[in-house]
Amino acid sequence: MPTLLTPPTQGRATPAARNSEYQAFGNLVARNDLQALVEIPTMIRALRLGHFGRVLEVGCGRGIALPVLDERLSPERLVGLDIDEALLREADRNCARAGVRAELVHGDLRALPFDDASFDLVIDFGTCYHVSGGRRGSLQALLEINRVLRRGGAFVHETPVAQHLAHPIRSLGRTLPWKRVPSFFREKSALLWTLRTKA
Ligand SMILES: C[S@@+](CC[C@H](N)C(=O)[O-])C[C@H]1O[C@@H](n2cnc3c(N)ncnc32)[C@H](O)[C@@H]1O
Repeated sequence: MPTLLTPPTQGRATPAARNSEYQAFGNLVARNDLQALVEIPTMIRALRLGHFGRVLEVGCGRGIALPVLDERLSPERLVGLDIDEALLREADRNCARAGVRAELVHGDLRALPFDDASFDLVIDFGTCYHVSGGRRGSLQALLEINRVLRRGGAFVHETPVAQHLAHPIRSLGRTLPWKRVPSFFREKSALLWTLRTKA
């Protein structure tokens, strides 16, 4: 059974979610299915991701990716983190339905509640582009991901092309401040996704 480390507040948005200028995306069932059945398996093949022991998905939302990551990467520890407790409750149900053991953690990507070097792989399906606080928020997010990754660990994220296809208006002009996090080395890219390793 998945573990909700921070108990949810029934039916209410968290203070963080209430006060944030982050705008949630709608829930499209067809989009979720496409992501689980096509997008994520394609990403795993395209980047040739193998086994990773400790895997964190930041901005896991409804947990659509978690069963696929569990099946394909066989991690010993799988964690999904999100700022929205209502989405985490859905993720909890999704994981339970799929029989996936995942830790679901309520937290802010810009201040991750994990020790340094806790993960071998961090995956982000677009959250760093849309996190509150503009470019500064994105930088905080990248620095935090860098901190919780072990040296030599991998960070997989969407490219601006993927963002532009998914959110043509909202993603206009949004790029990530990679130059401010020089320890991330761009290892391979497959049009929609990039894998960086932490030097
Ligand atoms: C682009 S959606 C991605 C959702 C899901 N991973 C997917 O691929 O469909 C962004 C997710 O990031 C979460 N989020 C936004 N700001 C966040 C923050 N500061 N910390 C953690 N999660 C955040 C949102 O609640 C939302 O679930």
